[in-house]
Amino acid sequence: MFQSLISINDLSTEEIRKLLEIAADVKKRPQDFRNVLEGRMFGFIFEKPSTRTWVSFQAGIFSMGGGVIYLGPEDIKLGVREEVRDVARVLNRYLSGVVMRTFSHWTITEFQDYFEKPVINGLSDKEHPCQALADYMTLYEKIPADQDPVLAFVGDGNNVLHSLMLVAAKLGAKIRYATPKKYQPNPKILKTAQELAKKTGASIEKFLDPGKAVEGADAIYTDVWVSMGEEDIRKKKLKDFKGMQVNKALIAKAKKGALIMHCLPAHRGEEITNDVMESKCAIVFDEAENRLHIQKAILLHLLNQGAIQ
Ligand code: CP
Ligand code: NVA
Repeated sequence: MFQSLISINDLSTEEIRKLLEIAADVKKRPQDFRNVLEGRMFGFIFEKPSTRTWVSFQAGIFSMGGGVIYLGPEDIKLGVREEVRDVARVLNRYLSGVVMRTFSHWTITEFQDYFEKPVINGLSDKEHPCQALADYMTLYEKIPADQDPVLAFVGDGNNVLHSLMLVAAKLGAKIRYATPKKYQPNPKILKTAQELAKKTGASIEKFLDPGKAVEGADAIYTDVWVSMGEEDIRKKKLKDFKGMQVNKALIAKAKKGALIMHCLPAHRGEEITNDVMESKCAIVFDEAENRLHIQKAILLHLLNQGAIQ
């Protein structure tokens, strides 16, 4: 039975460390991985748009000799034209793995129950595991893990924060978050992260005031206030997130030269200002680049080809 990556919690601390190592190795010598996926076909089941997740997975798979079939919302109409479990059992006969981006996390877990190869969560309403792994890879490239950088997340208690918290908890890292009262992280995911943190020595600190959350932090992270699928509540969210913007005044409270992180896409003028996005401290495009290397590492690991040669 193949392993899937639907939640960060599907990975042990050791596996996360190994993934970060494989990704660094693949980044250094991509030519040595040219044929490792030869003859393998992957399906991309995407209910929402994507730039980074789609293109980095597709480029990564092509560059390792595999092939992909993109299945957008109008193509297979997952769960509408046919039940999720039937699609999973059919695709199981054709494909070596799937990457899924869905509105509901349930769709991915239901699919996995009927699919015998790796299922990778390319973003759901609960988690964005590939993103958080690329983010920690990027953070540790700039500030090595043994320096124990403090990451402060300011924004929505949503999919990206959930996966970041779980990675931090698994790795024994320090993470703080500030979200508006009504947009706290999912209590179940928070509890899981807190329980893990007790074992690993990680610290997860909650703040309501973003200024306090970033005080002395090494890196500040934000995500859009209006996530994909929330366009109809846009006005309300912009109002509710007032005061949570990552701008010059906020970063002045962090450590001097603090890194600025964002999963992208960014909505300049909302969660982040244009000058902060364009500042020297912003490492957002390094995070985007590392999506490519971490996706390759994830595929190699899940297909049991991840041994570092
Ligand atoms: N960060 C991220 O997942 O980007 P896309 O939505 O473009 O895939
Ligand atoms: N929270 C955002 C992340 C985009 C990568 C969303 O779900 O749209």
